Amino acid sequence: MVALASGDRWRLIFCQTILTLVVTIARSEEIFLEWHVTIDLTLKPMSVDQPVITINGMFPGPLINSTTNDNVHVNVFNDMDEPLLMTWNGIQQRKNSWQDGVSGTNCPIQAGMNWTYVFQTKDQIGTFFYFPSLNFHKAGGGFGPIRVNNRAIIAVPFPKPEAEFDLLIGDWYQHNFKDVRSKLNTTVWAYHMPPDGMLMNGKGPYLDPFTKAHESFTVTRGKTYRFRIANVGIAWSINFRIQKHQMVVVETEGSYTNQITLDSLDVHVGQSYSVLVTANQEAADYYIVASPKLSNATDNSSLVGRAVLHYDNSTTTPNGPLPKGPDPFDLDFSLNQAKSIRWNLTAGAARPNPQGTFNVSNVTLSQTFILQGSIIDINGVPRYTLNNVSYTTPDTPLKLADNFINGSDVYNLDEFPVNSSNPVAVDGTFVATGNHKGWLEIVFKNDLNVMDSWHLDGFGFYVVGFGHGKWTPELRSTYNLYDPVVRSTAQVYPGRWTAVYAYLDNPGMWNLRSQHLKNWYLGQELYVRVYDADPDPAKERPPPENLLFCG
Ligand SMILES: *[C@@H]1O[C@H](CO)[C@@H](O)[C@H](O)[C@H]1NC(C)=O
Ligand SMILES: *[C@@H]1O[C@H](CO)[C@@H](O)[C@H](O)[C@H]1NC(C)=O
Ligand SMILES: *[C@@H]1O[C@H](CO)[C@@H](O)[C@H](O)[C@H]1NC(C)=O
Ligand SMILES: *[C@@H]1O[C@H](CO)[C@@H](O)[C@H](O)[C@H]1NC(C)=O
Ligand SMILES: *[C@@H]1O[C@H](CO)[C@@H](O)[C@H](O)[C@H]1NC(C)=O
Ligand SMILES: *[C@@H]1O[C@H](CO)[C@@H](O)[C@H](O)[C@H]1NC(C)=O
Ligand SMILES: *[C@@H]1O[C@H](CO)[C@@H](O)[C@H](O)[C@H]1NC(C)=O
Ligand SMILES: *[C@@H]1O[C@H](CO)[C@@H](O)[C@H](O)[C@H]1NC(C)=O
Ligand SMILES: *[C@@H]1O[C@H](CO)[C@@H](O)[C@H](O)[C@H]1NC(C)=O
Ligand SMILES: *[C@@H]1O[C@H](CO)[C@@H](O)[C@H](O)[C@H]1NC(C)=O
Ligand SMILES: *[C@@H]1O[C@H](CO)[C@@H](O)[C@H](O)[C@H]1NC(C)=O
Ligand SMILES: *[C@@H]1O[C@H](CO)[C@@H](O)[C@H](O)[C@H]1NC(C)=O
Repeated sequence: MVALASGDRWRLIFCQTILTLVVTIARSEEIFLEWHVTIDLTLKPMSVDQPVITINGMFPGPLINSTTNDNVHVNVFNDMDEPLLMTWNGIQQRKNSWQDGVSGTNCPIQAGMNWTYVFQTKDQIGTFFYFPSLNFHKAGGGFGPIRVNNRAIIAVPFPKPEAEFDLLIGDWYQHNFKDVRSKLNTTVWAYHMPPDGMLMNGKGPYLDPFTKAHESFTVTRGKTYRFRIANVGIAWSINFRIQKHQMVVVETEGSYTNQITLDSLDVHVGQSYSVLVTANQEAADYYIVASPKLSNATDNSSLVGRAVLHYDNSTTTPNGPLPKGPDPFDLDFSLNQAKSIRWNLTAGAARPNPQGTFNVSNVTLSQTFILQGSIIDINGVPRYTLNNVSYTTPDTPLKLADNFINGSDVYNLDEFPVNSSNPVAVDGTFVATGNHKGWLEIVFKNDLNVMDSWHLDGFGFYVVGFGHGKWTPELRSTYNLYDPVVRSTAQVYPGRWTAVYAYLDNPGMWNLRSQHLKNWYLGQELYVRVYDADPDPAKERPPPENLLFCG
């Protein structure tokens, strides 16, 4: 053995110390949660008696505060009177669609039973939320925030804020969700009747004569705060703003964005953002506003969410008119803002490499889906469609059918018209193949005169283009392939299209859905089966030991 010079020995010890440190820091945590999901009849978020779905008595439910690569164990006790599943909006469930918690991947947790989800926040950072996925439950609550924090070894691309606030904003029916659900077979409810109030963290608007409580955040003058905002609602896109304060957009659904300073931010159903807000005004109270897009709601309407930014030294209540947002019907404003939300190519996120290492500037497409959302009566009942096809949920979840019986007995593989509308509107259980490790381009088209937004489980997709009118392949030349933002939910404006690219490196059975609850509940979804014949568990995990069976 060669004797080491003292300098070398010191270096060796130093390296070992660093190695130990890195290993210690990099180790992922196990997070154990026990949730009791029940229906509360006393909360009255908008003054009327209605059932609200709570978790451990809370509405919204508790925060899942995780860090990249943590393993989260959530033992869900269904104390409601009907079957339940929870899904984790934007958590990619890498190689593990068994934990995705949608009707195509899991059997429901029956009333009175419990089931433990175990999933990893693998290679992710950012702001997400969870919600109950079956039976229109989201209209009754049951949602809550998810944070995935950076590992200590990877720098966050902005100074550490004084504090972080989770703010879940969503529209709300002043009706029992079960009643709304049962009326959705009528034209009036299926086509019209959006929700009639706006809640911020489960509370009604400030000074609304009908609400018991409003949301308030306390800040100290001169400090900067991170607001993690999500639209957990049912149908309304919102414009978010704070009186006399600007916000810096820094993150959306797991991507660090180029930091842009805005007076107001549009957040569509199912989307989430982090914004930094500096308390740089006179010590006072200010309005925080979330107003619906494509709506004439007046400032004092219950549909305009109003909370309070309270400076700790303030002695006044908010005053003056609400801060004026953009014209709610100005879609070009919204579209231009959407185009300005771009990926920060140099920031590291979940992995030490900068985000831009994984860019789409030079990819070869493997498949294109052109998907048009609409609504039509099928067999006399209103159904939301994708290419004139409305999804029917089978008794046996698709993922279980794939694993235990011949999937073809349960669903139609590859009969879904992926790039044109079916000449007749049909109901059915269709599944589309996504080529494993291929690039999928999806062009979403919206046939209706209201907003829609689309979400793909299992992946983040690159939002490469928005456009008017008919989409043609030539319009690919208008795409932003340089720094498109990666997220999991993209809005589709009325009469327009949105194009995304996804790299299908995550085998599984993945839900592609409208985030608009009515649309989803009435069939606007498709499953994408990303299949790898190799049973190597490194490629896709085997079913969990506690797997539930049904159908
Ligand atoms: C979340 O976890 C991080 C990292 O462990 C910790 O610093 C932070 O205080 C936690 N926040 C909350 C609200 O629990
Ligand atoms: C149900 O909860 C108990 C703890 O009360 C736990 O031991 C058991 O594993 C849970 N069942 C499932 C299927 O997760
Ligand atoms: C809708 O469904 C309910 C039962 O859920 C039924 O009573 C009602 O007649 C149906 N309405 C229509 C228009 O089909
Ligand atoms: C909003 O108001 C404008 C002007 O008053 C009116 O033309 C339009 O129909 C209204 N839109 C809705 C959705 O109520
Ligand atoms: C709401 O505001 C409108 C004008 O912005 C006003 O005409 C109306 O009286 C107000 N309603 C209530 C209940 O305050
Ligand atoms: C706020 O008030 C506290 C005492 O109540 C005082 O110490 C502090 O300096 C004040 N801060 C500002 C920014 O005015
Ligand atoms: C991108 O992230 C880097 C940190 O890696 C940061 O210094 C820079 O300001 C960010 N750029 C923009 C435009 O936000
Ligand atoms: C995109 O990725 C390629 C391959 O990794 C790299 O050569 C190129 O510099 C990246 N582009 C940007 C803008 O980061
Ligand atoms: C871009 O793609 C072409 C053709 O597929 C390939 O030859 C070239 O090496 C790629 N360039 C980069 C920077 O990846
Ligand atoms: C599954 O069923 C389809 C049609 O019923 C059949 O064509 C196929 O060969 C079957 N596959 C297996 C693996 O049995
Ligand atoms: C549409 O799909 C069919 C069959 O999958 C394919 O042959 C055709 O080239 C596609 N057309 C376009 C425009 O992508
Ligand atoms: C959808 O189906 C209906 C009949 O069910 C038909 O009238 C309509 O033209 C179809 N739409 C398209 C875009 O093909």
